[in-house]
Amino acid sequence: MEMHRDVFDLTGRRALVTGASRGIGQAIAVEYARRGAHVLVAARTASGLAETVEMATGASGSVTPLQADLRSETSITSAVADAVATLGGLDILVNNAADDHDSSIENTDLSTWQRVLELNLQSCFLLCQAASPHLAASEHGKVVNVASVLGAVAVPNDIAYVSAKHGLVGLTRALALEWGRRGIQVNALAPGFVDTSMMAAVLADERAATWIKRSTPMGRWADAREMTGPAVFLASEASDFMTGQVLTVDGGWTAQ
Ligand SMILES: NC(=O)c1ccc[n+]([C@@H]2O[C@H](COP(=O)([O-])OP(=O)(O)OC[C@H]3O[C@@H](n4cnc5c(N)ncnc54)[C@H](OP(=O)(O)O)[C@@H]3O)[C@@H](O)[C@H]2O)c1
Repeated sequence: MEMHRDVFDLTGRRALVTGASRGIGQAIAVEYARRGAHVLVAARTASGLAETVEMATGASGSVTPLQADLRSETSITSAVADAVATLGGLDILVNNAADDHDSSIENTDLSTWQRVLELNLQSCFLLCQAASPHLAASEHGKVVNVASVLGAVAVPNDIAYVSAKHGLVGLTRALALEWGRRGIQVNALAPGFVDTSMMAAVLADERAATWIKRSTPMGRWADAREMTGPAVFLASEASDFMTGQVLTVDGGWTAQ
């Protein structure tokens, strides 16, 4: 008789989670470690990374910090090399690091556009490229690109971010086709509005914050921890026949 197997178990899986010094990336990294994964967490802020390590105390897996600015190609290459050296290989890549710059096309100069695209899209391309041989060597290769509902629909005055997130959804689909027969699944997680520091300015603006609550069918913001279940699903055996898809977790926002 087959023993009961937990399809969400991540015991022994080796993961690199970017942007895991706070917010959604931090919550995902800690949950992966609780489920037995060994996770390298990359971001710029040492204190945030230390907090992630602390939050994973007692987990069956582990969290190792890596201070890196993922806007630079050299840091990306060495982040992947560090992950492989520390963890002994790589099974899961979570491209989560991003930042936002709310502005219209007239108010977005070329260097701002480039900075947003560099982190929110180009770094994901470079991380996938650097991780490619290691994910191919894994029995359980998975990429989770943290996109956004703004990768499916647009809002005005957020031109670079919306463009980058639509690009990330395109990268997810294109790579899923390229890597389908190599046994690597590539999917995106598309959060709705989540109460994190990225949204601090919106949360502080009563009109904008109220609009978000009102326009979300569930009538509230998400907590970062609410992204962890879907992120575990996309990194685990539970999603083995799923690739090139966007899993939207938005309290119903895009159902309207
Ligand atoms: N919050 C939302 O409502 C929402 C909605 C949809 C999608 N998302 C997406 O979810 C993901 C996480 O967002 P969040 O809300 O958790 O944002 P957050 O709280 O601002 O966290 C962003 C993370 O990215 C890291 N990061 C920023 N610039 C970096 C760089 N140059 N190099 C390395 N790491 C860098 C930050 O760490 P350091 O500053 O320490 O480097 C931090 O750990 C993003 O992809 C975002 O677009 C968020």
